[in-house]
Amino acid sequence: MKEKKQHHILVVDDTKENVQVVEKVLQMAGYKVTAQASGVNALRAVKQTEFDLILLDIRMPNMSGIEVCRFLKIDPETANIPVIFLTAETDRETISKAYKVGGSDYLKKPFYKEELLARVETRIRLRDYEKNLEATVQQRTREIQETQVQLMYVLGGIAEGHSKETQKHVQRVAEFTYRLATLYGMDHKEASLLKNASSLHDIGKLGVPSHILHKNGKLTNSEFKEMKKHPDMGAEMLEHSTLPLFKAAKIVAYEHHEKFDGSGYPRKLKGDRIHIYGRIVAIADVFDALAFKRSYKEQWDIQEILSYMKDMSGKHFDPMLVDLFFDNVDDFLKIYNIHIQKIELDKKYSNQKRKGIMNWLLEKL
Ligand SMILES: [Fe+2]
Ligand SMILES: [Fe+2]
Repeated sequence: MKEKKQHHILVVDDTKENVQVVEKVLQMAGYKVTAQASGVNALRAVKQTEFDLILLDIRMPNMSGIEVCRFLKIDPETANIPVIFLTAETDRETISKAYKVGGSDYLKKPFYKEELLARVETRIRLRDYEKNLEATVQQRTREIQETQVQLMYVLGGIAEGHSKETQKHVQRVAEFTYRLATLYGMDHKEASLLKNASSLHDIGKLGVPSHILHKNGKLTNSEFKEMKKHPDMGAEMLEHSTLPLFKAAKIVAYEHHEKFDGSGYPRKLKGDRIHIYGRIVAIADVFDALAFKRSYKEQWDIQEILSYMKDMSGKHFDPMLVDLFFDNVDDFLKIYNIHIQKIELDKKYSNQKRKGIMNWLLEKL
């Protein structure tokens, strides 16, 4: 059987006898109890231990229960712990103050044991319910975010598949993008957003006729014109989404073929008129396209790629980003090498598998 969680209650009262009575009743009912005799000590205790409920005397020397509660409620870490006041005074002013500073309930001293337990149990049950709800909401939010991200990669993969590129290209571009984005100074959250958004950079290729996309050999001028429509089409496809991920993806889809010197397409944007998302993904996309084999081209040698990247600084690419790239080139080469090794391993493994099947067939003959 699942063990029932023992709830921890903090009792704050400067009168020793009161504390002893409350402590005994609560412990008999199965609660864990910590007692403090002053407001200051109580505030210190909540910093060290997580309590499920606080029973707080109002009239205490130095710091009253009302003041203690005020402090508890302004600190986000303790604001959600329910407070029940224990008080001998039940005049209107005291009671209204007790609620005003965030108290959940009050108990008039002296109280019956049954009354104390009933109030305590209700508050604890409510708090547990709240906590579960918070956890469920967080879990659901995580799931929704995760779904969005996965959806992006699926869509990106479909677009790349349609355009004869590989899903692996999408994943690698995402990794290069993330690294460059953090080097640029984006925090993890924004860099992750851009990383995931980058997977849709070529989504617009879904709108390019497949005989053009899949053509072996050089495109004619008019075919190339068609091909160059993919950033516009990508932007249009993502136009109406209000989700931050898709908004970022729209920028990337629209601007990843712009060039720093203004010679790119579709809008011939120049310099920092090109959104930083577009400038970053342009580098990641080209670097990957050169570094890995495609159906229509061989992969380049790494030295060739690096000198090309340097050469394109200020022309195709933002020179500031190219500098960041070269200052940290080992990071990019690390990602590059991991993927090169993966491809080699895949090849070896599938060759072995093929050989195995051939041997098996030969034996049967
Ligand atoms: Fe593209
Ligand atoms: Fe690409």
